Amino acid sequence: MIKESDLQWIRKWFELYTQEYCIGKEKFDSCICLKVVHTKRVVEEILGICNSLNLKREECYLAEIIAILHDVGRFVQYARYHSFSDANTENHADLGIEVIRPELSDYFPKK
Ligand SMILES: [Fe+2]
Repeated sequence: MIKESDLQWIRKWFELYTQEYCIGKEKFDSCICLKVVHTKRVVEEILGICNSLNLKREECYLAEIIAILHDVGRFVQYARYHSFSDANTENHADLGIEVIRPELSDYFPKK
């Protein structure tokens, strides 16, 4: 069961993780910022949906975590390739799994 403390940890982790990708170069950082803002909008949208569906608190925590993590692979994708094109780089969902698996190993089934 997802707890509020899990959500808070992931919120903080995402904030710190994405800050690492801001390197002080305006064009690069603006692309990173674009994905941070996008993620925040997805979180707002999903919380609106959660409220409209009267979901349980724990279900809303899970939904928000999914929203926070849904594009987490975009940051490493842009850092490696300076592109958000899955077709010309790597699939951002696969990259996201690479990023979150070690960070969230307690939540993944062991191989
Ligand atoms: Fe997205």
